[in-house]
Amino acid sequence: MMNEEMIIRTEQWVKEKLAHDRSGHDWEHIRRVRDNALYIARIEGGNCFVIELAALLHDVVDDKLVDDVDKAYRELREWLALQGMDAIAMEEIIHIISTMSFKGGGRPSMSTLEGKIVQDADRLDAIGAIGIARTFMYAGAKGHAMYDEEVKVRETLTEKEYRQGKSTAVHHFYEKLLKLKDLMNTSAAKQLAEERHEHMERFLQQFMKEWNGLQ
Ligand code: ADP
Ligand code: NI
Repeated sequence: MMNEEMIIRTEQWVKEKLAHDRSGHDWEHIRRVRDNALYIARIEGGNCFVIELAALLHDVVDDKLVDDVDKAYRELREWLALQGMDAIAMEEIIHIISTMSFKGGGRPSMSTLEGKIVQDADRLDAIGAIGIARTFMYAGAKGHAMYDEEVKVRETLTEKEYRQGKSTAVHHFYEKLLKLKDLMNTSAAKQLAEERHEHMERFLQQFMKEWNGLQ
């Protein structure tokens, strides 16, 4: 099968899988990550086929979105094999999507250029105006408060604490989102992150001002 056709089929497959997501990980998130990744690749290089497919598939095996991660990987491998994908590209893609997630921040850095680019593309969609919107959708979907003054900001987090500990939407900015600007792998993404980071800073300042009420 031609690469182009494989990409179109993958888009369809992912669209069906994430059609009902309301936690900020819907098809439009995937589309933006793919577009961000291809934009960065035009500047930084890398294998565009691997980059595009990894971007499209990066959330279909995510532990916060699927109940059974092993099963999700088995289904993904079967499906890619059915599309006639060669084993080397399949392993590259699976390596990227299994190592790129933040999970509290304590994970090693990405080993390939393609991986660095897809991770940056995903992180760009976690910050800025879209990042703000997604964070409040996620908190709403999980039943978290938008803010709670009593909750402490956690400094370093294990994967379990990151996923399960008590947090709020506003806390997520301090626990992850404000750190992402300095964690970008590529200089193209670092540049794009600056403006988005400033928007989050301004948003938080205004949020706190309004939270504390008129005095
Ligand atoms: P990754 O895709 O790198 O694993 P995460 O799982 O940390 O990233 O989260 C992806 C997005 O989901 C975040 O950028 C954020 O918008 C939202 N999110 C994740 N955890 C939280 C949380 N505890 N509170 C609010 N939003 C969250
Ligand atoms: Ni994502």
